[in-house]
Amino acid sequence: MYRDVLILYCRAPNAAPTETGMSRLALSDSDKQARDWFVKTTKALGCTVTIDNIGNIFAVRPGRREGPATFAGSHLDTQPSGGRYDGILGILAGIEMLSVLQEHQVETEFPVGVVNWTNEEGARFPISMMSSGVWAEEIALDRAHNTREVGGGTATVKSELERIGYLGSTPASYRSVPLAAHFELHIEQGPILESEKQKVGVVKGVQAYKWFTVNIDGRDAHTGTTPLQSRADAMLLAARLITHTHRLATAHNALASTGILTLSPGSTNTIPGHVSFTLDIRAPADATVEAMEADLKRDFAALAAGKDIGGLLANSTPGKPLSVEWRTDFVSPATIFHPDCIGVVRASAEAVTGDSSLVRDMSSGAGHDSVYASRRCPTSMIFVPSKNGVSHNPEEYTSPEDCALGAEVLLQSVLRYDRM
Ligand code: GLV
Ligand code: MN
Ligand code: MN
Ligand code: MN
Repeated sequence: MYRDVLILYCRAPNAAPTETGMSRLALSDSDKQARDWFVKTTKALGCTVTIDNIGNIFAVRPGRREGPATFAGSHLDTQPSGGRYDGILGILAGIEMLSVLQEHQVETEFPVGVVNWTNEEGARFPISMMSSGVWAEEIALDRAHNTREVGGGTATVKSELERIGYLGSTPASYRSVPLAAHFELHIEQGPILESEKQKVGVVKGVQAYKWFTVNIDGRDAHTGTTPLQSRADAMLLAARLITHTHRLATAHNALASTGILTLSPGSTNTIPGHVSFTLDIRAPADATVEAMEADLKRDFAALAAGKDIGGLLANSTPGKPLSVEWRTDFVSPATIFHPDCIGVVRASAEAVTGDSSLVRDMSSGAGHDSVYASRRCPTSMIFVPSKNGVSHNPEEYTSPEDCALGAEVLLQSVLRYDRM
């Protein structure tokens, strides 16, 4: 039954594999609809539902004995132009798990549950993995509540939680809702499983990342009357700085990306005096991210002052100095998952596929709620293949067979852990 729902949410019937896009921004009306469905469905499966004050929803099915539940968890929110698998696959597979247990009247030793974490993406409200972070007490509740939507809107996380009816009364904390363990099924979002013709990734950890906003101040001026040497062109400097982040990422074997850039005043015939852009830096080791940050800060200051770095100013007219300021928005150190959970996922994946050559250990390039879950309970993740390695894109696609395989590995992992 939930297999059908899964296919419906993950892929519209008769849709071509490329017609699978989804926009379900955190705490939007469509997020509310998906949440309402989640609550109704899990209650119908015999679960008790708890909503905390950051909108995380915990659905728990009782076991033979009382105690913290072993959870399957992920997120319902998406990127503004996202796919139909990132996040919701892990939730629907968790619901499928509950329905299989119910259908076969399986009594687990301890309770088992499914959790939907609020605003994993950090797309509408720019803190990634926000509410698993609050639950782990690593992100302050006030900071999360007061986070404003990107693009200059007035909505905050708290005002939107109130508006859609998901500001729960339970304090968001692992102390109020302890988890025995957290397992997350997710699409890989990268190319490895597909290119190696493998089916299941046993995720051992997640790379480090850090988000910044860089603000450049120059001077607005007329494009037609201001000679090149008199300009303090914030956009020209931004272009050079962003180019430099790519070079340094190559040198450090790391990643650097800019996803939001705004300039003002935004007129064809005015040289922009102000630019702000985001920077997302990632690498397997915390030390690499720190080294990148230090090098970038040093080089941005030099380039802003007109000093050439790596030929970026070659054959150009020197202009006026500009100022560059950095703000750190978010830090996620490298994560290593729990050996017990990694072992349980590996054993389950080998049992379900019946072929250990279809299973590989991997590390995650993307952040996931499992990062914060792992700070407070044993955790691991299960990856299934992503067609062409594409994600955060409407073309995201994972076959129904691979989704079902992942759901089986999730079910087995939770059951094995419950009996450990
Ligand atoms: C969060 O999912 C991230 O990796 O940005
Ligand atoms: Mn995700
Ligand atoms: Mn995502
Ligand atoms: Mn993610």
